[in-house]
Amino acid sequence: MSKMDKRTHSESVTTNASVTHDFSPENSDIDILDNGKTVRDFIDDKIKERVSKDTEDPFYVANLDRLYLIHLRWVTNLPRVRPFFAVKCNNTPVVLKTLSALGTGFDCASKNEIDLVLSLGVTPDDIIYAHTIKPLSHIKYAEAHGVSRMTFDNEEELLKVSLSHPNAKLILRIAVDDSKSIIRLNTKFGASLDSVAQLLERAKKLELDVIGISFHVGGGCTDSVAFMQAIADARHAFDIGNLCGFKMNFLDIGGGFSSRKDFKVQFEEVSEVINKALDECFPPESGVMVIAEPGQFYAEPVFTLAANVIGKTFVTDGKQGGEIKKMMIYINEGLYGALGLVAMHPGLTNVEPYPQRTVTNSDKRHTTVIWGPTCDCADVLLGTYHFPEMHIGEWILMENMGAYSVTLSTEFNGFERTQLYTVVSADTWCNLHLSNTNIF
Ligand SMILES: Cc1ncc(COP(=O)(O)O)c(C=O)c1O
Repeated sequence: MSKMDKRTHSESVTTNASVTHDFSPENSDIDILDNGKTVRDFIDDKIKERVSKDTEDPFYVANLDRLYLIHLRWVTNLPRVRPFFAVKCNNTPVVLKTLSALGTGFDCASKNEIDLVLSLGVTPDDIIYAHTIKPLSHIKYAEAHGVSRMTFDNEEELLKVSLSHPNAKLILRIAVDDSKSIIRLNTKFGASLDSVAQLLERAKKLELDVIGISFHVGGGCTDSVAFMQAIADARHAFDIGNLCGFKMNFLDIGGGFSSRKDFKVQFEEVSEVINKALDECFPPESGVMVIAEPGQFYAEPVFTLAANVIGKTFVTDGKQGGEIKKMMIYINEGLYGALGLVAMHPGLTNVEPYPQRTVTNSDKRHTTVIWGPTCDCADVLLGTYHFPEMHIGEWILMENMGAYSVTLSTEFNGFERTQLYTVVSADTWCNLHLSNTNIF
């Protein structure tokens, strides 16, 4: 594998060539996998390198091939829905730049997220400020930088917007059923359908412009019917908006999608339900622009994390030389680092010992507790693991680590943020046009 130098591309995909960055292949930190090298080979090399240098620092590997394929899966299945990637899910510049090159927009939750994507060359029209509770100064920042689409779900927010961004294009977020989702959001956000008329009348009195409706069915939605019902609810709210005299032409179906093959409901099935509901409630001839705010869908499978076993104890039945009840291992990533989300939702990642030595079926498996590195006893991966005996210095691998990991990391207890390597195959690099345009 090599850092990519100039290559010609043979195939073209729809990319956003208007986006320009100072991130050329020559000075980027992207490793191009060529000569048949795989991502796994890359991980093996990085582990060997660490072992030879006597360091045990954890690392992520971001696989841009996966990001590219995930995007193709989106556009194939939801051709009417333009994705605005939720930056809160993963704010790594290389991820954002790739998505921007592929033509997605961005859902930003704050001034800093807006600032970040603007600094990458994204235009304000490709941003939605999708937070219903915004600090006044952040609304002013959006106004000063030409970002006009923003969500709201309450009257106080309307007052703030009328003071600081009277020309904003407002999108009313409604509360929808999120009971079938892993991460529920609708107790905190979303106006009830009963309050829609009153809110829209208030917006009218304040001479604000409401252009559409948004919702979020919750993170990791396991039931496609939730989308169907939410789209029907949005239609109802649209009708109220039109009656109030607004020109409603924007629908935002939020996030909550999963691209994992082991997820309870497959994206193809969810998409089919969404497409049908859209065709019924918002047919193409209605002229309504439909967007979504996927986060996890795009980012989750893209990152793999390698962490090191830095400590180990056995819990026995108390007698000297007694029976081992469980093995406790301590790794150098945890709740306050990359594992903030997966520590609490163990099903989100598969944690596996990295095969540094042969482990056979006859090797004893221990009930294993995986602790993070900090002094906090909440720093533990919930869930039950059964590992062969692990030794200090050995590695474990975690797949699907790209969502809500880098963005939730802290330096609690002085543990630094985890290093990231980015890899892409030569073919994908060429397909993305990254080699000879100014996209990167
Ligand atoms: C407003 C908003 N949009 C989009 C997302 C992304 O959701 P997901 O990662 O489930 O796709 C979130 C996640 O919290 C959110 O709060």
